Amino acid sequence: MMVRESELDFKSMPKIELHAHLTGSISRQCLHEIWQGKKAIGATDLEDPLLIMPPGRHDYDLKTFFPLFSSYIYNLVNDAASVEHSTKSVFRDFAQDGVVYLELRTTPRAMPSAGLDKAGYVRTVLRALDAAARETPTLHARLILSIDRRNTLAEALEVVSLATAFRDQGVVAIDLCGDPMKGDVSLFTPAVEKARAAGLKVTIHFAEAEASASEAELATIMAWMPHRLGHVIHVPDAVKRQISARTGIGLELCLSCNVHAKMIVGSFEAHHFGEWWRVEGPVVVPCTDDVGVFESPLSNEWMLIQKHFQLRREEVLTLARKGIDVIFGGDDEKERLRSILWQERAS
Ligand code: IMP
Ligand code: ZN
Repeated sequence: MMVRESELDFKSMPKIELHAHLTGSISRQCLHEIWQGKKAIGATDLEDPLLIMPPGRHDYDLKTFFPLFSSYIYNLVNDAASVEHSTKSVFRDFAQDGVVYLELRTTPRAMPSAGLDKAGYVRTVLRALDAAARETPTLHARLILSIDRRNTLAEALEVVSLATAFRDQGVVAIDLCGDPMKGDVSLFTPAVEKARAAGLKVTIHFAEAEASASEAELATIMAWMPHRLGHVIHVPDAVKRQISARTGIGLELCLSCNVHAKMIVGSFEAHHFGEWWRVEGPVVVPCTDDVGVFESPLSNEWMLIQKHFQLRREEVLTLARKGIDVIFGGDDEKERLRSILWQERAS
């Protein structure tokens, strides 16, 4: 029997989010509040975020998406107060959507005019997550620090040092993200090796665009032995076979982002989720990527999956539970999640 939408309440279903960029997850409303606060004291000349990013506008592609951050959002969220406010707001939004475990990722950003260096930025994010978790103990969060593809090796090594320094405060991994049209990833091999040697986990944006899916780039990344891969779009068959053979590798798939940003050909039913979710070995985890931009919360991603790929109720629950195996949060956290996710009856 196929599941009708009404049979599963995806919002109340306990969910795991493993691929969410902090700044891309800030809601338009939260950005607007930050803007209002700054405007009131003459601290910004920027236009209202609700005009820059009108609600309901999701047609950001690879050409318009990255400049939205570099030329707008980063100029608005540019001090400790706005980083703290937006981090707490992102945490609450995920909690209200029924997320019980969240791995947020962010690119350490110095804000010299606000007296924050990269370490100060990471500390501010971690403190905000801690404060939010005290308010909402049902949601546990961890942090991943991102290397940007445009970084130099020295900058990438700094990200690894920061991740190592803040490990006991909730940083669990490094990521490689940023504009897939830019950069040569082979530059970062020493940084990834250093991260692995320090015991950090590794997740990588993989084959997101044709420009970042050359045979050489994919071979370089596969040789890093990443624990998880994000997107996994433009993958040749030989590399698909390699991924399939890596039992326990996590695949963070982001349907709405890929469809709205036209990163795949066709719509939801053409998404490669359909190809991967039943493959033995890798573990597929539906994720939001940038819910602030694409306005599709994780509950909606699960609804889309169920609608377009006709998963049965038990298949949805089994898939959700499998995600536990690929979190970076440790064994105690896995135990906690098992007790929560197994409460949902598979009948
Ligand atoms: P932040 O790292 O918390 O500042 O989150 C925003 C940043 O995440 C953007 O500036 C990009 O570098 C990165 N990002 C967000 N979405 C994507 C994506 O789909 N692909 C690659 N990078 C991304
Ligand atoms: Zn991403």
